[in-house]
Amino acid sequence: MKKTVLTGIKPTGQIHLGNYIGAIKPALDLAIRKEYQPAYFVADYHGLTKMQQPNDFRQLTYGIAAAWLALGLDPKRAIFYRQSDVPELFELNWILSCITTKGLMNRAHAYKALVDKNVNLMKDEDTGVNIGLFTYPVLMAADILMFKTEVVPVGKDQVQHVEIARDIAESFNNYYGETFHLPEYKIQEGTSVLPGLDGRKMSKSYNNTIPIFEEPKKLQQLINKIKTDSLPPEAPKDPDTSIIFTIYKEFATPVEVEKMREAYSIGISWGEAKRQLFIVMNRFLEGPRERYKELMAHPETIDNILKDGAMEAREISKPFLNEIKRKIGITV
Ligand code: ADP
Ligand code: TRP
Repeated sequence: MKKTVLTGIKPTGQIHLGNYIGAIKPALDLAIRKEYQPAYFVADYHGLTKMQQPNDFRQLTYGIAAAWLALGLDPKRAIFYRQSDVPELFELNWILSCITTKGLMNRAHAYKALVDKNVNLMKDEDTGVNIGLFTYPVLMAADILMFKTEVVPVGKDQVQHVEIARDIAESFNNYYGETFHLPEYKIQEGTSVLPGLDGRKMSKSYNNTIPIFEEPKKLQQLINKIKTDSLPPEAPKDPDTSIIFTIYKEFATPVEVEKMREAYSIGISWGEAKRQLFIVMNRFLEGPRERYKELMAHPETIDNILKDGAMEAREISKPFLNEIKRKIGITV
C-alpha cells in the first residue's frame, strides 16, 4: 500500500516563487518516490472565499493546473484533479462541520488575521468575513482526510490548517470509531517562508511576488527589485540572511552554490548577485515557461487531464464516503 501525499493550491493569483519553493517543488520531489501515491489538486472552491471575476477565476484555475504540469507533474503517476469535480468532498465537508467546534475555527489564523485587521481599523470585527472563509479549514480537512493522507507538503502558513485537520479527525475517530488517518505536514527546511520583494512573506495578497512564468526581461526586472541592504559592493555579505542567496540555492547546482557562498564572503555586489540569480533561474524556467504557454493555449488539454484525475479521485472518495455515512448512521 502506497502512502498518500496530498496538496492543493487555490487559484487566487499567478503561481509565484513562494508557491514553487514552499509547496510545488517539495511536492514534486515526493511525487517521484515509489512509496508515495501523490494526489495534487486545484483548490478552486477554496479560491471562492475571495470573490473574483468569473473569467479571471477560470483562467487562474487553468493557470495553477498548467503550472503543475509544466513543472513536471506526471498525471499518469499522480491523481491530479480540480477540487470542485469531486462532490464527495463537499458532503464530507458538511459531516466534518458538524463535529467541529466554532472555537477551533475562531483560532484559525486566516480568519483571526482579518478580525485583528478590522479591530485595528476600528471596524466591526467580522467586516468582510464570509462563512466560507471562517470554515475554510473544515473543507481543507475534508480534502486531506478523504484520501487517508499521510503527508501534506505545504508552506509554513498552512501548518495550522493541517493541525486542525488532525484535531477534526481525532474528534471523529473518538466518537465514531477509527476512520480517518492523522496526517502530517512537511515543510521545506530552510525556506519554509520565502520573503517577497519587500521583505514580507511572498504572497499574492501583498503584491510582492515573483511569478515564475514571467518572460525573461520581466523576470530580470523583478529580481532587480528584491530588497537588499546598503552594504558597498566589496563588503563581505552573509549568504544565510540574503533572500537572493536563498532563492539561488533552489536553482543552482551544489558547486555553484559553494562558489556563490565564497563570493559572498569575499564581497559580491548585489547587482552581480542578482544577475547570477537570474541566470540560474532562467536556465531552469525556460522549458517550463514554454510548456506553460502551450498548455494555456489549449485549455481543453488541461480539462481532459483534470477530468481523468477526478474520476480516479472519485473511485476512492465514493466508497470511503459511503463507509463514513454508514458509521454516522446515514443509510446508504
Ligand atoms: P499566497 O499566500 O500567495 O496566497 P497560497 O496561500 O495560495 O499563496 O499558497 C499555496 C502554497 O504555497 C501553500 O502551501 C503555501 O504555504 C505555499 N506558500 C505561499 N507563499 C509562500 C512563501 N512565501 N514561502 C513558502 N511557501 C509559500
Ligand atoms: N489552504 C491551502 C492554501 O491556501 C490550499 C489547500 C486547500 C490545501 N486544501 C488543501 C493545501 C489541502 C494542502 C492540503 O494554500
